[in-house]
Amino acid sequence: MTKATKSHLALMLLPLAVTALRLNVTAIGARDGRSTLECWQLETPFSQSTQPGTAGTAALLLSEATNITYTAIPSNFDGGFHNAPFYQWVVFIAGLAHITLPEDNSTAVDIAGGEFGLIFAADIAAVSEHGHRTQYPGITETIALQIPTKDGKIPNRDVIHAGPCRVGEVAGLREIAGQGG
Ligand SMILES: *[C@@H]1O[C@H](CO)[C@@H](O)[C@H](O)[C@H]1NC(C)=O
Ligand SMILES: *[C@@H]1O[C@H](CO)[C@@H](O)[C@H](O)[C@H]1NC(C)=O
Ligand SMILES: *[C@@H]1O[C@H](CO)[C@@H](O)[C@H](O)[C@H]1NC(C)=O
Repeated sequence: MTKATKSHLALMLLPLAVTALRLNVTAIGARDGRSTLECWQLETPFSQSTQPGTAGTAALLLSEATNITYTAIPSNFDGGFHNAPFYQWVVFIAGLAHITLPEDNSTAVDIAGGEFGLIFAADIAAVSEHGHRTQYPGITETIALQIPTKDGKIPNRDVIHAGPCRVGEVAGLREIAGQGG
């Protein structure tokens, strides 16, 4: 197959609707000195990758980052109340994290490792007095990647509602996955 044919095929993979899709992620935010759970919709939509190996598929630059830490947390670990150390992405790639708020028992979230394991943690000590609590109730270890953003930046976003994102708000990713087959 010629190069031209290949890129032509790749370009046909994604309908416009998919490249206009915006990612929704659960965030630990803060308001009036207290941590919150919020559903953020990132301002930048998915675009079509031009990188070799993924050309034509849906891609989204989340942010610039400075470093990345791989963390292995045993089953039943209790992280206690803590603030986000930096504005950072946390990607749970395996296991289960249960996040609660010290001043608000009306909301909580379970983040399972895997496809929907991305959150943003923004309740640094400067904006939240007590932070949030993370427990790891899964039967396996939990593996997380912690990725502070460069220069302490928070991605541009709309807060679409209080509380974690709902299943229907991340299901758009399935639409993308369906494009390949
Ligand atoms: C990782 O990045 C954060 C945020 O920029 C920085 O504060 C921290 O010192 C860095 N850690 C290492 C080990 O470089
Ligand atoms: C939330 O629940 C915990 C445990 O039951 C309790 O100790 C705490 O006082 C509650 N907090 C609020 C704000 O209701
Ligand atoms: C994000 O939420 C909006 C509804 O608010 C939805 O239209 C969109 O498909 C969601 N994005 C993803 C990637 O699921």
